[in-house]
Amino acid sequence: MPHRLDFLLVALILTPAAYGEEASAIGPLAESCAACHGVHGEGHGVLPALRGRSFGVLSRVLLDYKTGRRQGTVMPRIARGYGDDELVQLARHFARLPVPVH
Ligand code: HEC
Repeated sequence: MPHRLDFLLVALILTPAAYGEEASAIGPLAESCAACHGVHGEGHGVLPALRGRSFGVLSRVLLDYKTGRRQGTVMPRIARGYGDDELVQLARHFARLPVPVH
């Protein structure tokens, strides 16, 4: 899946310019997630939305990426860069984000 990875890398590189100040409002930990999952955890394209998921699911998934129990293209590597407590904080942050009613 080389194209998909290319896209992800480009998204990472472009992030500071693309999201700027708005991203910094959600805290330094969550900023790097906004590159792919959106400033409001809304996701787009192949990138899953994080908002609207429960704290329990998000924290379990992130810890499972870290330990290798759950497979993924980029998330296992990303999750390994955070402490367990940081992943739990991130799960709490994204679980709290409001989901707009359409
Ligand atoms: C480079 C882009 C990228 C970044 C940065 C990124 N993610 Fe992801 N995330 C993905 C992709 C792609 C997936 C789908 C699984 C995979 O392929 O690894 C995913 C999946 C997830 C999932 C599982 C969602 C589901 O519905 O199964 C969670 C939770 C998650 N990411 C949280 C985070 C958090 C928290 C951060 C910040 C620490 C983060 N991600 C940073 C690309 C990214």
